[in-house]
Amino acid sequence: MLKSLIVLLSFYTSFVVTNEANNKCVDIDSLNEPVGEYFAKNVVPKLEGLHKGDAGKIVVVGGSSEYTGAPYFAAISALKAGADLVYVLTTASAAPVIKSYSPDLIVHPTLSPSTFTAIETVLRKADVVVIGPGLGRTSETVHLTANILNTCRTLRKPLVIDADGLYVISKDVTLVKNYPSPGIIMTPNHLEAKYLKKAVEAMGYKQNWQKYWGPHVSVLVKGASDSFYGNTTWEISDGGSQRRAGGQGDILSGSLGTFFGWAIKANVCASVPTFAVARLTRACNEIAFAAHGRSMTASDMLLQMHAAFEKCFGVV
Ligand SMILES: *[C@@H]1O[C@H](CO)[C@@H](O)[C@H](O)[C@H]1NC(C)=O
Repeated sequence: MLKSLIVLLSFYTSFVVTNEANNKCVDIDSLNEPVGEYFAKNVVPKLEGLHKGDAGKIVVVGGSSEYTGAPYFAAISALKAGADLVYVLTTASAAPVIKSYSPDLIVHPTLSPSTFTAIETVLRKADVVVIGPGLGRTSETVHLTANILNTCRTLRKPLVIDADGLYVISKDVTLVKNYPSPGIIMTPNHLEAKYLKKAVEAMGYKQNWQKYWGPHVSVLVKGASDSFYGNTTWEISDGGSQRRAGGQGDILSGSLGTFFGWAIKANVCASVPTFAVARLTRACNEIAFAAHGRSMTASDMLLQMHAAFEKCFGVV
């Protein structure tokens, strides 16, 4: 009896220890096949045998009385990339507008300091939270977003931070310093990257600014080429077109929410879903541009999500 208890105990400790040491994720540089193929085989969930919610529950925090398109594009992209349920946490003024764009989204009109308990209830449901599209930059919004970031840290929620969410970070870069695993993927464009860099350097941090937040925070700088900084660094410049439609960034951040959630379940590092999403967005752009040329819009890109997914990953 005592012996079996000891065996059990030692099994338990060794299990805990390996689990600690195994906090390693599969990264791009250790794959011996193309990232797209690896992603399709090991990260994209199978369609059979899943229950509603298994393929991802994403929360998008965004929108304001001025901006309703950005949170819509992010949320619908998360859904079209393959998540089961997408919640939009937005202001009372933006909610009816976003609801009228789409019956596919669950829209909560509770993005206000006076309903923080309701915000927390929605955040708890998320596999990944996408923060930023269309938030605006009023001081009230900056303050509320900072509180949301702190709550997400306590809940250890994986985050994608984009657009005005990055503005909040640039106001106080310590907000997400040493954020816990699975971590954060920030997706600035060149301008946003510039002010994040400036804010980090103002803290007296003179190394590569992208490393400031610690081992679980990665940065994808979007542009004519997309550059990733994390455990690995890489750059993609093929695919896409010269035409950049407003809303393209929201398509990327929303889809990344879905892919990041899948990657975490498959124990795959953040660089893999980020690579996959950069490819997917560029393919949406390329296919939509071939059909619409200069008149291409973000909505045209959304319609190509399935074709782009097949092209990049060879699966439906
Ligand atoms: C970097 O690698 C470490 C060890 O494998 C892992 O814990 C961490 O989550 C990785 N970071 C990202 C952003 O994937």
